[in-house]
Amino acid sequence: MAMIVADRVTKTYPSGGDLLTVLEDIDLEVEARDFVAIVGPSGSGKTTLLGLLAGLDRPSSGTVTLDGVRLDSIDEDARARLRAEKVGFVFQTFQLLPTLTAVENVRVPLELAPGETAPDAELEARANDLLARVGLADRADHYPVQLSGGEQQRVSLARAFAHEPTVLFADEPTGNLDRQTGAGVVELLRELNEEARTTLVLVTHDPELAALADRVIRLESGRLVRA
Ligand SMILES: Nc1ncnc2c1ncn2[C@@H]1O[C@H](COP(=O)(O)OP(=O)(O)OP(=O)(O)O)[C@@H](O)[C@H]1O
Ligand SMILES: [Mg+2]
Repeated sequence: MAMIVADRVTKTYPSGGDLLTVLEDIDLEVEARDFVAIVGPSGSGKTTLLGLLAGLDRPSSGTVTLDGVRLDSIDEDARARLRAEKVGFVFQTFQLLPTLTAVENVRVPLELAPGETAPDAELEARANDLLARVGLADRADHYPVQLSGGEQQRVSLARAFAHEPTVLFADEPTGNLDRQTGAGVVELLRELNEEARTTLVLVTHDPELAALADRVIRLESGRLVRA
């Protein structure tokens, strides 16, 4: 069964009395455990599409089905629960909580995950292990403002992995990283896809990352074109 189905998804925004069409008639199916890379020029709608597929935002028309659930058939609370249970998201702008340290940020999805009953010390150990895997063992107690852009990005990745999501969406996850750190993140994503069998949908400009994908799809001016 397809993990993600987008059926004629369109997104418009009001623009000076007119409508700006940001995505038009997107049809897309992503099978469970697939690794899909989305590429395309700036402003082509990549971030918007990722947000719609993850249920963070709603299409103007058309439908998105995630793991068999039509997202428009459930209310926002149910969508939030579905995300907490199944979805990891790495934002282009990281979106770390500024009042929490790195390790506390990574713990957030563990604490929100439905049915999570592990003792506190175990959650702490898991969060620290994830930080170590993105090379930030020595930054666990730093607040986001004390971290560089690339470090914040890696905390954001560790947070997205924390509850072992069924589907991981990541918006340019290696965009701010130097080659070596980026390669580490690519390796982590590959492991997640192969070992944890996570479905991956990534926006990327990174040819090394796109090369690992089972499929590359290309957006141009809000429309899907063959890559
Ligand atoms: N809330 C909004 N209101 C109006 N227009 C928006 C809104 N969000 C996005 N857009 C427009 O939608 C288009 C697509 O934006 P999006 O962020 O999806 O592009 P992108 O492909 O991710 O670009 P980039 O590579 O620069 O991140 C842009 O023209 C943007 O200005
Ligand atoms: Mg974007």
